Amino acid sequence: MAIDLAVVPVAGIGTRLLPATKSQPKEMLPVGRKPIVQYVVEELAQSGIKRLLFITGASKTSIENHFDINAELIQYLRETGREEQLAALDFERQDVQYFYTRQRRPLGLGHAVLCARPLIMRQDFVVALGDSIIGLHAQSRVVEQMVELFENDRDVKVVVAFEEVPREHVARYGIARPKGAVDDVFELEDVIEKPTVEEAPSNLAVAARYVFAPEIFDALERTAPDRRGEIQLTDAISLLLREGARGLGVRLPPSERRYDIGNFASYFEAFVEFALADPDYGPGLRQHIERLLSEGTTQC
Ligand code: G1P
Repeated sequence: MAIDLAVVPVAGIGTRLLPATKSQPKEMLPVGRKPIVQYVVEELAQSGIKRLLFITGASKTSIENHFDINAELIQYLRETGREEQLAALDFERQDVQYFYTRQRRPLGLGHAVLCARPLIMRQDFVVALGDSIIGLHAQSRVVEQMVELFENDRDVKVVVAFEEVPREHVARYGIARPKGAVDDVFELEDVIEKPTVEEAPSNLAVAARYVFAPEIFDALERTAPDRRGEIQLTDAISLLLREGARGLGVRLPPSERRYDIGNFASYFEAFVEFALADPDYGPGLRQHIERLLSEGTTQC
């Protein structure tokens, strides 16, 4: 049976985006018209995910509210004839069931995924990080492709999406050590969390989407915390691979960039790109930015 279950970790406190994230989740910051996490959910829904488990933390309740049906708001918009605004709430009726649990201690991404174990037990599942959008307006089908690869070969225990990053950025990501030649799909020998430029075996960075067999939970249980006391998902994948499990990497096509909203530089870039692509407001914004740049009225 096709995988229809995804875990979306959203427990991180977003310190790199302070003060914006002091009392609201980074996953709720808007990129263009929608909060980041809505793109993630829409991407998963169009890839066949029907059950979605958020791993949340303190001050993340607005995520639950966002995906709930707000009957009062719908009624108000209907009564006042605001059809366009009403259409903006269509995502509330997506064919997805939401579940929530809390990571009660900040022990890292691997630990957050481990919090899903009592519910997931022996099922295969997807992990999609809640702070990364794949492809402009999340039209990506990469998760569907990853699930297909996973299901076509029962030896495969993990499939990870990767994107090529500039060499100087490898220390921000999990990095692939491919086995043999790298094509759009490649065999994984190992993954290394945030290596130095010298250590990095490639410039293929883990791009926030994974498919796992339940064996990942045993690997997570056996993964030692890193220097900061956090259990890293990458380290558990590495353990599985080194113990002989088969893993595949899927390289994102150039048309499907990953928008990582973990810091202001990439958040600003993502916002501008999505806003420029907005069918109603994009053209006007483009003119405005061009005018600003040509007049030299800003510091840009
Ligand atoms: C996490 C993972 C890292 C991955 C990245 C993708 O890092 O640990 O392997 O490349 O997400 O966004 P974080 O951004 O939480 O530091």
